[in-house]
Amino acid sequence: MLSSGCPPQGDDVLVIGGGIIGLVTAWRAAQHGLRTAVVDPSPGGGAARVAAGMLAAVTELQYGEQTLLDLNLASARRYPSFAAELTEATGLDLGYRPCGTLAVALDSDDRAALRELHAFQLSLGLESEWISGRDCRRLEPMLAPGVRGGLRVDGDHQVDPRRLGAALLRACELAGVTFHRDLADRVTVDGDRAHGVVLRDGTALTAGQVVLAAGSLSATVAGLPEHVRPPVRPVKGQVLRLRIPQAYAPFLSRTVRGVVRGGHVYLVPRENGELVVGATSEELGWDTTVTAGGVYELLRDAHDLVPGITELPLSETLAGLRPGSPDNAPMLGPTALPGLLLATGHHRNGVLLTPVTGDVMAQVLTTGEVPAYARPFTSARFANALQEQAV
Ligand code: GLY
Repeated sequence: MLSSGCPPQGDDVLVIGGGIIGLVTAWRAAQHGLRTAVVDPSPGGGAARVAAGMLAAVTELQYGEQTLLDLNLASARRYPSFAAELTEATGLDLGYRPCGTLAVALDSDDRAALRELHAFQLSLGLESEWISGRDCRRLEPMLAPGVRGGLRVDGDHQVDPRRLGAALLRACELAGVTFHRDLADRVTVDGDRAHGVVLRDGTALTAGQVVLAAGSLSATVAGLPEHVRPPVRPVKGQVLRLRIPQAYAPFLSRTVRGVVRGGHVYLVPRENGELVVGATSEELGWDTTVTAGGVYELLRDAHDLVPGITELPLSETLAGLRPGSPDNAPMLGPTALPGLLLATGHHRNGVLLTPVTGDVMAQVLTTGEVPAYARPFTSARFANALQEQAV
């Protein structure tokens, strides 16, 4: 029989989900001396295995998301020291590349759209320079002759998400985090507080604080009271990986994003010779099929911007699921259920938001306080909708 309402014995912190968000939370918690465990059948995987790893706070700016922009910028500023700290702790390189981004337009309508985005960026005080098509090609000679101009954003960089996941996993192991390589079958609640997790193999784990960081799966974990179930849904993204043979290097020197007939495509060249092309954005539930149509559209649009890509070997096609939230921003920190915290719903910005998420969650887990800059991102902003969902 569980004692009603008392914080349980066991670990201090139990993180459900071993993707980059769960791992950074666990790493930071362990660094602060908290006994920490992670539940995941395959930690270090998740959506980051598919993601391109753009740190594109400025070029991926969306209208109406100015609040999220502040968090994105706060995390982008942390990246150099975060990457250095993680590499120092693990000896593993993250492929962090401060190379900048060029966002280009294909036709005159695309140019008008990009001009609008530029005006919006400048109105927010962001650093972004409009340059002519000719200057775009001077920077990136592989661009198509028809490119109509673009935005040079020297502050939007990239990291390799697979390396990031591997380094966070190693950092957690070195910091003493325990791993339960199984699925969380359900969250357990004792009286008025979260008490732990039962694994699929029946093992019951208890912890003082349970962090739900299961990405697109976060809303599916059983045992969650309806009024705290996070409104997270899967948003499918198909991504291609090509290889740049040595003879073609340097194919691109920075990330190239394009507005192509009103759609969006990006090409992310890594130092290891990989070129990532992405991504579709599809509301198709749990479907992760790589489709001929998805691959065709990505290659067609990427080829219109950079015709030479058709010469490159295509090495991988994958589809992942972004954890979408109603306002495209993450849910961080406490919930209405004591002992249950969220670090989920990062949608398009999981890789970018990894450093700041670690800092926010460390502060919440150690002090119970959400830092001021993160208060707009607690799940309290959905409280009314969650109450209605619970009725
Ligand atoms: N941030 C890139 C994407 O979600 O496709």
